[in-house]
Amino acid sequence: MSGKRRVTLIPGDGIGPEVTDAAVRVVAAAGAAIEWERLDAGQAVFEETGTPLPDAVIDSIRANRIALKGPVGTPIGSGFRSVNVTLRQALDLYACVRPVRSSPGVPTPFENVDLVIVRENTEGLYSGLEHRVTEGVVESLKVVTEKASLRIARYAFELAAREGRRTVTAVHKANIMKLSDGLFLDCVRSVAADYPGIELREAIIDACAMQLVRRPESFDVLVMDNLYGDILSDLCAGLVGGLGVTPGSNVGDECSVFEAVHGSAPDIAGKGRANPAAVIRSAAMLCAEIGETDAARRIEAAVDAAFADPANHPGDLGGSATTETFTEAVLAGL
Ligand code: NAI
Repeated sequence: MSGKRRVTLIPGDGIGPEVTDAAVRVVAAAGAAIEWERLDAGQAVFEETGTPLPDAVIDSIRANRIALKGPVGTPIGSGFRSVNVTLRQALDLYACVRPVRSSPGVPTPFENVDLVIVRENTEGLYSGLEHRVTEGVVESLKVVTEKASLRIARYAFELAAREGRRTVTAVHKANIMKLSDGLFLDCVRSVAADYPGIELREAIIDACAMQLVRRPESFDVLVMDNLYGDILSDLCAGLVGGLGVTPGSNVGDECSVFEAVHGSAPDIAGKGRANPAAVIRSAAMLCAEIGETDAARRIEAAVDAAFADPANHPGDLGGSATTETFTEAVLAGL
């Protein structure tokens, strides 16, 4: 026995291999006892084997119970089903958790953003239930269950309690979708009753989007369904520097998959220009999850320190640093 924790590593498509490679180097330098088990999934695997998500990938995550994943491409309109949606549903990774906080040194209009998006990850409009009723008419079914709504609400309040946060905002559109979003909202309200020390706020999704860009500092934990969470995650990433800096995780009762909010960024793939911070921070979250808390803390601090010097800012932050120079700055900080 090596004494190391085995973790599945899925490099993914586009910039995925570049940024996950950076994260693996940083985790090793931070001294985390991790042995990576590398498996491929995504567009390239589909072209080679006819399936974008081989069973071996799911088996590996089930066995190791934890994974670090790069982004994978999904064809638009037609083609294979999203690997992400399939993985989240197959492994019941019901909570998508995306911490969004300002980094000193990253230029943004806001300084004190510190919120967490908790997105329901398994149903809603991402249930994959679409059909053509007749020529020119299609239906996409939005599925909302009491079971999934209660457990995501419980997850959000538990996270708020654990992190000493004061409010949970339930984001919905129950004024229009009275049954589906109404059920979701009722579930959040009933769970909130068990947490008298945490204030429940309610926000209609459109007004919430406006408030987020006006006063993001006033938000703490936000809980919402799958589609709203997908959209507001990118909006919130934009509040603190963009997709290159925002980490995330997909959590279930049995397994967790850590990944950045961003996609495979085909426009900059292979050019060495991707910002690896989001995946490095996702790896830090992974380290914390497996008890490597010292490594997690040191990685977070080293990323913040790298951002403090504008010379280390990659192109997405308006600088000219490469993936390699940013990674080296983080390694130096460690
Ligand atoms: P995207 O997030 O890949 O890119 C949006 C924009 O942000 C692009 O201009 C890109 O260059 C930039 N960007 C993203 N990450 C960056 C980074 N780390 N450093 C610097 N710039 C960065 O979103 P897009 O273009 O909508 O999707 C591309 C592909 O990724 C699609 O096939 C989509 O399905 C997939 N995707 C996969 C996700 C996942 O695997 N978790 C999440 C989101 C999209």
